[in-house]
Amino acid sequence: MSPNQNLEKQQMYGFWNEAACGESLYLKEVDCAGYQAHSEMRYQLEPFIPTFADFATAKEQKVLEIGIGLGADHQRFAEAGAELYGIDLTERAVEHTRRRLVLFGLSSTLSVGDAENLAFPDETFDQVYSWAVLRHSPKTPLAIEEIYRVLKSGGTAKVMIYHKWSMIGLMLWLRYALLVGRPWRNLKAA
Ligand SMILES: C[S@@+](CC[C@H](N)C(=O)[O-])C[C@H]1O[C@@H](n2cnc3c(N)ncnc32)[C@H](O)[C@@H]1O
Repeated sequence: MSPNQNLEKQQMYGFWNEAACGESLYLKEVDCAGYQAHSEMRYQLEPFIPTFADFATAKEQKVLEIGIGLGADHQRFAEAGAELYGIDLTERAVEHTRRRLVLFGLSSTLSVGDAENLAFPDETFDQVYSWAVLRHSPKTPLAIEEIYRVLKSGGTAKVMIYHKWSMIGLMLWLRYALLVGRPWRNLKAA
């Protein structure tokens, strides 16, 4: 990895480890009610997530989520009965998701990890899911290669990458750059 990409990843880590995705705006209390309210807000704002993720298909499947954030989708996969694994670049996301699952009596194997260097053997998972994560990784194509490597033959990758020049891209820049007093942050970093 080039020094620039390394720096980019460190900045990414610092940003998301300060507050996980949606934490400052949508997580009022760190308890069941708080996480529940976060999920409701998330699926109101992005109602297409459940259709895309199709959580029910994860029942009894070995599923990896990359970039778990606050863990709302991860909770849905756990509720669906997946044999579940989750990683995120930051400890903060892993801690939130761990707490969230414990509060709801659910389980998953969670760890800090990097999408560009997955710590799993080839052909491990039936499904790999990742929402709004890989655009943030300096070497997105490498992360895609890693997903294919850890997927079983015939497995399914469900990956959502926001288009940089889109309404969502603009919304993210407003939310994570302009409104937090960092208008110089570019759309990739936001
Ligand atoms: C925009 S948030 C999305 C989180 C969650 N998927 C969601 O939709 O709320 C991006 C997440 O990706 C994580 N992330 C960024 N680069 C990563 C990488 N290379 N490997 C694993 N996680 C990464 C960040 O730490 C952050 O939690």
